Amino acid sequence: QKGGWDSFMDKEIHEDPTAVADTLLGRFNPNGDLNLDEVHIEPEVFRQIDKIIIVACGTASYAGFVAKYAIEHWVRIPVEVELAHEFRYRDPILTPRTLVVAISQSGETMDTLMALRHAREQGSRVLAICNTQGSSIPRESDAVLYTHAGPEIAVASTKAFVSQVVAAYLLGLYLAQVKGTMFRDEIHQVVESLKDMPRKIQWVLDTQTQTIARAAKSLITAKSFLFLGRHVGYPVALEGALKLKEIAYTFTEGFAAGELKHGPIALVEEGEPIVVIVPSSRGRDLLHNKVISSIEEVKARGAFVIAVAEEGDPDVDRYADVVFWRPTCPTLMSPLVDVVPLQLFALEMAKDKGLDVDKPRNLAKSVTVE
Ligand code: F6R
Repeated sequence: QKGGWDSFMDKEIHEDPTAVADTLLGRFNPNGDLNLDEVHIEPEVFRQIDKIIIVACGTASYAGFVAKYAIEHWVRIPVEVELAHEFRYRDPILTPRTLVVAISQSGETMDTLMALRHAREQGSRVLAICNTQGSSIPRESDAVLYTHAGPEIAVASTKAFVSQVVAAYLLGLYLAQVKGTMFRDEIHQVVESLKDMPRKIQWVLDTQTQTIARAAKSLITAKSFLFLGRHVGYPVALEGALKLKEIAYTFTEGFAAGELKHGPIALVEEGEPIVVIVPSSRGRDLLHNKVISSIEEVKARGAFVIAVAEEGDPDVDRYADVVFWRPTCPTLMSPLVDVVPLQLFALEMAKDKGLDVDKPRNLAKSVTVE
C-alpha cells in the first residue's frame, strides 16, 4: 500500500504533483474558461457574493490563509480566514451574500462542521472544499468542490494542503470570471501557471531531497525552530512549523517576518535555526528585499538560516547557511512549491529521531469531537 515508500507520509509528499494536477482536471471548458457547474451554484448567485469567510482547522486553515491573498487580489472582495472552532463564538457577520467556504480533507472535522451549521442557520451559503466524497461536511454544505488528492493516510496532512490551495484558487478565479474582475486573458495566464506547478513541485522532489535530508540530520539536536515568511510565505511558514511540531515533536513557532522586531527577535540567539520563506527575487521587489533584511537581522544575532528561495537568488546565497531551492514561479503560485521542502524537512527530522511519522503521538487523522 505504501508503494515502495518507507511511510505513507513519504508516499503522500511524493504525490503532491499529482494532487495538484488531478485537482485541476476537468474544471475547464475547451475554450479555457473555468467551468464549476459541478458546484451547482448559479453564476448569478456567485455574482452577488460580497464577502467570503473561510473556516477550517490546522493545515486546512493555512491553505485558506494562502487563498485569501489570491482571492482578494483577483476578486476584490474581503476574504476572512477563521479557525472553525473560534468562528461561531464570536457572533460573525453573516448575510445571504456571504459565502462561507469550509475546507477539510477528511470532511469529518467536528469544529468545521459546527461552524458551517452556524453559517447556514444565519442564512449564508456554504461551499465545502473537501477530499472525501460523501463525508459529513460536503453532505451538509450547499455546494462542494472536491480536491482530488486521493486518500491521505498519514496523520500529517501534506498532499491535501496543495490540493486545497488549488481548489480555493479555482474558486477565486471562477468568481473573478463571473464577476468580471479580471480580463479573460489574465485568468487564462494564471491557469497556465497553475498547470505548470506539478512539474515545478516535481523538480523540488527530484533535486532538493538530499540537501533537505542533510540539513535535517545536522539539526537533529536543535531544541526549537522559528519559521518566518511574509505575504503568502506567512501561512507557508505556519504550515512548515506545524509539520515539524506534529511529527518531529520539536518546539516550533511560525510568524510573519515583519513581526520580528515587535517581539520574536528576542528569541534569537547564537545557533538558533530559523527557516525563512523568501519571495521571488525577480525584479528584487519590496517583498523580496524586506524578507532579505529580516534574514540580515537574524544573521546579525547569530541565527542559523535555512532559506527556501528561488533558484539563483543572489541575496539568499550571500546570507543563508542552507538553501532549499525552488524553480521560478509567480508569487501567488509559490506556496505550492515552498511547502514541499518543509514537508520533507519535517519527515526527515522525524525519521532521524526514529519516530513513527505516519502516526504521531496524541493525534488522530480526523478530529470528530469539538
Ligand atoms: C496537520 C493536520 C491537521 C488537519 C486539521 C483539519 O497536519 O493534519 O491540522 O489539517 O485537523 O483536518 P481536516 O482537513 O480533515 O478538516
